[in-house]
Parts: sequence; C-alpha cells; structure tokens
Amino acid sequence: MRLLTLPLFAVSWIDRLGFGLNGKQSTMVVEGPVAEAQLRLFYVTCWVTLVIFIVVASVLAYATIRFKARTEADEHAEPPEQGHGNPLVEVGLIGASVLALVIIAVPTLKYIWYDYDVPAESKANAYEVTATGYQWWFQFQYPSEQITGSGPLITANELVIPAGRPVHVNLRSVDVMHSFWVPKLAGKVDMIPNRGNFLWLQADHPGYFWGQCAEFCGDSHALMRFRVIALSPRDFQDWLAQQMSPARELSPSSLRPKAQFASLEYHDFAENAPGISGKYEGDNGISPLDQWKQQQFPNKGEDPELIARGKALFVTKTCAGCHTIRQADGKGPMGVTGPNLTHVGARSTIAGGFLDNTPEYMRRWIHNPGVVKPGNKMWVLGYEVNHIALTPEDEVALVAYLQSLK
Ligand code: CUA
Repeated sequence: MRLLTLPLFAVSWIDRLGFGLNGKQSTMVVEGPVAEAQLRLFYVTCWVTLVIFIVVASVLAYATIRFKARTEADEHAEPPEQGHGNPLVEVGLIGASVLALVIIAVPTLKYIWYDYDVPAESKANAYEVTATGYQWWFQFQYPSEQITGSGPLITANELVIPAGRPVHVNLRSVDVMHSFWVPKLAGKVDMIPNRGNFLWLQADHPGYFWGQCAEFCGDSHALMRFRVIALSPRDFQDWLAQQMSPARELSPSSLRPKAQFASLEYHDFAENAPGISGKYEGDNGISPLDQWKQQQFPNKGEDPELIARGKALFVTKTCAGCHTIRQADGKGPMGVTGPNLTHVGARSTIAGGFLDNTPEYMRRWIHNPGVVKPGNKMWVLGYEVNHIALTPEDEVALVAYLQSLK
C-alpha cells in the first residue's frame, strides 16, 4: 500500500509550488494511523480514477484527431454507417468498470471498519475523552480523571492526549450539529444533539495539531477551532496533575490604588479587525509544541495586587455566571455556560481556538467579544444583556488574573 502514496519529497515539492499540501490542516502529510488509512484510501481512488481519465482522454483525443474533417468535402459528407454496439467492447467496458469499483471498494470497506473504532487488540489501552461542541468552542472532559466534589476534569479548546496511544473520543453537542476534525490525525465525524457519536484517533508522536469544526453551525462556525496536543506519557501525567489541581492563588497584601493604571495606553480594539498573532506557527524557530510547554509555566513579573483585583472583577462583572474557576476552597465561580477557565492561562489559545493566548489578544477578546467572534453568547447574552462595560484598568486586571491561572 505504501507504494501507492506520493512520496513525501514529492508532496513538499508540490507544496513549494504554492499548493499548500503540507499546511497545518493538511490531510496529505499525516501523523496517525486513522488519518493514514484515510490518506491511503484517497490515493487508491486517486490512482484508479487517474487511469480511467488517461484511457478515456486518450481514446477521445485519438478519435478527435484521427477522424476530424480535413477538407471541405469531409465537412459536407454523409455520416458513415452507424454501428449498433459491439458485444466485445460492451462486455469489456462493464468488466473494466466492475474491476475499478472492486479495486476501490475493497480498501474502502477495510478502512471503514478500521476507522470506525479502536482495533480490538488495542481497546484495553485506549484512553477515553468526551468532546462536546458548543456554539462556538469545544469542551473536553476526561472521565477517567475524577476530581473529588467536582466530577471529571474539564478543559476547553485544547484536547491534550497521550502520544502513541489510541484515544476514543465521545462526541456530543449541546446545541446544533458540529463536526470534529483534526486533519492530521482523524476526521471528520459529526457531533449530533441528543445522539451519541464517537471516533478514535492516535498521534504517533508528541506534537501540536490543528483542529476545526467541519459542519456549518452558525455565525462563527469558521472560527470554531481547537488544538490537539499529544504528549509523551510522562508529560501527559504531569499535565494531568497540573490540571487536576485547583486554580492558582496569589494572595496580595493590599490592593493598589486605581490611579496606578492611568498611564496605560488605551486601544479601541473594536476598531481593529481581529486576527491571530501566529505565535504557534513555528516560524520563530520554536516548535509549536515547545511553545505550548512554555505556556504551562507562570508568567514572569506577576503582580499579586493586580491579579486580586482581576479576581474580584471576575465576580462583579458577572463573568462567574458562565465560567467555572475551580478553587481549592470549593467556593469559586461555578458557571457552566462558557468554558471552564480553571487553567485558562496554560492554554495556547482563547476564543474557541481563534486567538493565541497572549495578554494582548485576551484583552482584545474581553474588550469586545462580539467583534472577534460575531454572535457569540458571551457577547449576546453576557455583555449586551448585562450592559457590561470594562474600563481599560478593568481589562488589564482581568487579563492579569486569567493569565495567572496556569
Ligand atoms: Cu461548530 Cu461549525
């Protein structure tokens, strides 16, 4: 089967011509067995149809050139006597079509079975997660990681998985139909309201992968993205331990006076088109995975007073109504409408995977979520209904608090 696939050098050569075959969401350069099965099937179909194309196009070209009218007399000539079929040609064509279909059908059926669920021999080793689609972000639950008094571990935007191990992903939706797609690993399978669905995937090596909702689901469907981060077994255990712990707390001695913030430069982000900063593109010499690992550590120069102010604002500005930040005392914000933010500072993206998680982008996001992701609930049901207005000082304090949640 490997002979059938285009060699990697050919893919990157075509890529250099500007066809983007090896982009972040490429299905041509894959990193796991499920996507690989899908790629091979694509190549089988591709080669079979290429052969059909060459045969049909050759016969057509031959007939066109060989029998074209060459003189004035040819053009006005009587049409030649019409044939009424040639049994040999007809049976031959039927036979060739059946053969082509069988060549495509055999691997198709084989891979439908293979891609459907984790192979029986690896089932015991499979890791279980539940992905839930919301307009417009993904929630990830880890049913095997139960937190006392709080239920399963819950994250958003980023599905962190152990590399080299099959992962069984239960697919759910709380509102409309979404579709779960990580092109380099597996896809696409729909997340259907009121109906259980699932897929499996596996990342062969640690890596940082781009995912995307692949079913139109409303205004900001195109901005409904996520990441899959595959970690070595040890890194994965470290990550789980960090995620299972309650939100980081930094206790300040006192709050600073508000005048502290007067010198801040104010940007009206609403007037700027949103965009991504490209921190995870890997073109700064650091791999996206390493960049993600750096994100797990506390930021330098944290200001406990500012963070405490942000923490208080998180409640008074009604953020707590929709988001959970699981505190050690069990009394933190417990909203369930929006993403769980207990460790939001450690994620590489915010806003449904659309913006890189930098202080600047987070401030842009909370300044006017409606501009970044049109129609989203945080804007429509939060800011607009509750008339939430944040001063630049509020924004900076909230960002400092959220960024401290590693
Ligand atoms: Cu969710 Cu498109």
